[in-house]
Amino acid sequence: MRGRWIQTKGSLLLVSALFLLLQGCEGAMAPLTGGEKPVDVASEPPTDESKQEKPTDQKEEPPMSTPATPADQPQQDTTAADAKGTATPSEIPQDLALEVVAEPASLTVLVNKQRKLPEEYKPTDLVFPNVPFLAPEKSERRMLREEAARALEQMFAAAQADGIALAGVSGYRSHEYQKTLFARYVAKDGLEKARTYSAYPGTSEHETGLAIDISGIDGKCAAESCFAGTPEAEWLAARSMEFGFIVRYPLGKEEITGYIYEPWHLRYVGVELAQELAKTGLTLEEYFGATPVSSEG
Ligand code: DAL
Ligand code: ZN
Repeated sequence: MRGRWIQTKGSLLLVSALFLLLQGCEGAMAPLTGGEKPVDVASEPPTDESKQEKPTDQKEEPPMSTPATPADQPQQDTTAADAKGTATPSEIPQDLALEVVAEPASLTVLVNKQRKLPEEYKPTDLVFPNVPFLAPEKSERRMLREEAARALEQMFAAAQADGIALAGVSGYRSHEYQKTLFARYVAKDGLEKARTYSAYPGTSEHETGLAIDISGIDGKCAAESCFAGTPEAEWLAARSMEFGFIVRYPLGKEEITGYIYEPWHLRYVGVELAQELAKTGLTLEEYFGATPVSSEG
């Protein structure tokens, strides 16, 4: 009898532990509909290859939470640890023989499929911008480098004044977090497709602390193709350069940037360069005379 009680209690503990583990997972933050795999809304790829089309498997959005104050200490992104044991497909190359950028801390650094950040690079001036975020409170993904963070606050305030309520989705990502994210997408879509919308670890602008995915405050279409054409996307395309941001992966430049159109991915480069790029219609690759990366997939 006692043995059976211990067995039952053991099972209950196991179930509770599993429940708590799931609660801790960021992927569990967004309510899932039947049969869906947990996904990270921060970089959720378009669910439909045809741009502008509304995805058919629209997921529910994560609950809003209040902005973190600068005094908050960042929490380690738990997702990377929680997701250990998820697929790390053998098809993911372990290292890419890419050029290592010489000045990773430059505000105008060019990071792309051909130019990776130095191993172990982490920006030293990350702060929490005081704007609403969809990412969990105190998550590192709410952080940006200081100059970009201050510019973001001004941009959100200007949008608000125009009746456009924005939310941050995903800012800084550690190298470990990008690894987990990329592996997840490769497991889901295969390497070739994953590389059209997610950066190989070490080559993501999010690791510089100068890039942020932005959505409307309701989180609808956050980092999804249906964000294109929304008032928020239009506002960002029209005004972000005033605050030093560019839409880094524009429509029609996929063969140059190597990525699909991402109207939600904003990159801080400073007002002067952002204005110049807006005026000329050039991508960062074109501006710096870098080789188009289409051959890299
Ligand atoms: N979605 C962009 C390309 C990234 O993963 O950094
Ligand atoms: Zn992004």
